[in-house]
Amino acid sequence: MQNDNIQIALIGAGGMGQGDAGMATSLAGVKLIAACDLYDGRLERSKERWGSDIFTTRDYREVLARRDVDAVIIATPDHWHSRITIDALEAGKDVYCEKPMIHALEEGPKVIAAQHSTGRILQIGSQYASSVVYQKARDLLAQGAIGQLNSVEAWLDRNTAIGAWEYSIPPDATPERMDWDRFLGSAPRHPFSPVRFFRWRNYRDYGTGVAGDLFVHLLTGLHFATGSLGPNRVYATGGLRFWKDGRDVPDVMLALLDYPDFNARLRVNFESALPQESFGVQFIGSEGVITTSYNSLTLSQHPRESEPGYTIGTFPLKTQKEFLAEYHKKYPVKKPSADSLRPNRRELFEPKGFNAHLEHHKNFYAAVRSRKPFFEDAVFGYRAAGPALLTNVSYFERRICEWNPESMRAS
Ligand SMILES: NC(=O)c1ccc[n+]([C@@H]2O[C@H](COP(=O)([O-])OP(=O)(O)OC[C@H]3O[C@@H](n4cnc5c(N)ncnc54)[C@H](O)[C@@H]3O)[C@@H](O)[C@H]2O)c1
Repeated sequence: MQNDNIQIALIGAGGMGQGDAGMATSLAGVKLIAACDLYDGRLERSKERWGSDIFTTRDYREVLARRDVDAVIIATPDHWHSRITIDALEAGKDVYCEKPMIHALEEGPKVIAAQHSTGRILQIGSQYASSVVYQKARDLLAQGAIGQLNSVEAWLDRNTAIGAWEYSIPPDATPERMDWDRFLGSAPRHPFSPVRFFRWRNYRDYGTGVAGDLFVHLLTGLHFATGSLGPNRVYATGGLRFWKDGRDVPDVMLALLDYPDFNARLRVNFESALPQESFGVQFIGSEGVITTSYNSLTLSQHPRESEPGYTIGTFPLKTQKEFLAEYHKKYPVKKPSADSLRPNRRELFEPKGFNAHLEHHKNFYAAVRSRKPFFEDAVFGYRAAGPALLTNVSYFERRICEWNPESMRAS
């Protein structure tokens, strides 16, 4: 890094990678100097966006070998995340790695170890950790605004082909223009397939299904707001209900997670018949409810009744009378007054122009400069991805899974 300027490289220049790099380079003092991808069209597009003089390659190791690269954005399919992250950290780079941090549970401790041993900055790209909505939820929960939290419901419902991962395949998706062997990496061998390459989320060999792709976001918001380290037990069910296009992952998934202090229910539905995508987390407490959306939060407060009430109608009349006399000695009859009307619902919106994704990149480059890591590091990333991937284990192996949120071990 020279004169506070940070030079970055993008590894995986698809939808999110170009989105991430666009956010990063909109910040002062951040310059993209290299891009790596396995489809030539995306390298050409990167040159169109960031200049014809940027270095491009299909081999990420060439990017990591460059001394003029300070930090990398990793936005490849999930099966490459941990490998490239570890190589990048060991090459002395700071890393912004897209969620989910890992493709398989056993990769988590290796990424954590690499972050610790290299001392580099590693931030995971679930931007809800930088959202003012979840910060506000966290503050309200800490102030006791909804009393004692007892359950959480979180959902992401979609109703479009793109939302269900049917991404466009370019007309030049040929073996010459794509590096199919490198794409496979450590995944099982498979004949050349543009569908698998461009719609990798639909296949467990490369993606992590609904759980790794979307439950991770819900768990990031949930863990940030509650400060919880994670659940002890995980159970999931679901099915492939609508998008029967050859994919081997479910398009409806429901999960139950037992946290030490509350229970959580997660849902993703890719054919929800809603007019638009719906995303949110609802925190239910003994005295109120907080409901989040992408950019807003609603707080409804319902203070507990000051009297216990009574169920005396089945007692003899004389007994009822005696009971009521005693009851009203303790709880005198109050006349409702205009003062007893009170607001109990507040809706709060992100400030105009606020963008959690941009904020997440600001937090990353601030950490790169200050050397103080943002909290969504390898440990936080594993505490979100671990239980999310366990919902896959539960779904595919049809069993309840145990997770130790402190030691981050599954059984
Ligand atoms: N934070 C978010 O809200 C968010 C949103 C979308 C995607 N994502 C994450 O971003 C990642 C990328 O998703 P996407 O939708 O951009 O996918 P994509 O298919 O559009 O892009 C992935 C790119 O990676 C390239 N690639 C594959 N293997 C590579 C390798 N070994 N080296 C270099 N490049 C390689 C592919 O050629 C492709 O262009 C995923 O992990 C996804 O979960 C996060």
